[in-house]
Amino acid sequence: MPTREPRTARPVVVSIGGSVLLTGDDDVGYLDRLAALLRRVGQEGPLAVTTGGGRTAREYIGLGRKLELTEVELDELGIEVTRLHARLLAARIGSPTPAHPPTTLREVVHELGRASPVVLGGTEPGHTTDAVAALLAVRLRAARMVNATNVDALYDRDPRAYADAHRIEKIPWTEFRALVHGAATGAAGENFLFDRLGADSLARAGIPLAIVQGRNLPALEAALRGRPFDGTQVGGAPTTPP
Ligand code: UTP
Repeated sequence: MPTREPRTARPVVVSIGGSVLLTGDDDVGYLDRLAALLRRVGQEGPLAVTTGGGRTAREYIGLGRKLELTEVELDELGIEVTRLHARLLAARIGSPTPAHPPTTLREVVHELGRASPVVLGGTEPGHTTDAVAALLAVRLRAARMVNATNVDALYDRDPRAYADAHRIEKIPWTEFRALVHGAATGAAGENFLFDRLGADSLARAGIPLAIVQGRNLPALEAALRGRPFDGTQVGGAPTTPP
């Protein structure tokens, strides 16, 4: 009698902001621990990871803007930096993670069929690596997407400016999309709250988004595993009980 293949875990996608990867504060220790975490979680089920460009990308984009490069050329500079970060993280994770980061979603889907985690940077001009991760999550029918960012949660207003700012634990997609669309113009190198295309894509597909402080590795691990975590849940509760 033919045996049925065991159901494989649904993929998880995480975007790690460039401002989380390189802060100037124990970056080596952090990258080492992050790589170990991603390797461990990636061995248990398909995991795709995008890396942002952070300050380095913005420096090049700033330089290019002074040289009057077009927005598309500036985006392309940003993409190169995100890929540099992907290469750094992939190399630390090691085999079977491809050392050469895929450059298209199609390539990621292909690579994930034989390796996990797969790490990549940007794909094409006009959005950020958050959008790349979101589009991948939709393509892969991911269980969830995690945004590892440099704030510990979403607030109703800037917590640095307002002492009474409220931390948001849970927010529906409609409200989150309104926030995101109000916050960004879409210029190259702009630091979005979250990418508009990314938010719209996840909302349409009904894929929940977890926002966590990426340097808080226990929170990041809980979010990756679909457990309750310290941060903000957008559009739906974690899918797996603790
Ligand atoms: P990031 O994904 O790093 O954007 O891409 P970000 O919002 O600055 O995020 P942090 O600070 O790393 O968390 C950097 C820039 O590269 C270009 C865009 O100009 C973006 O602002 N980019 C990136 C693209 O054009 N396409 C991509 O797929 C990725």
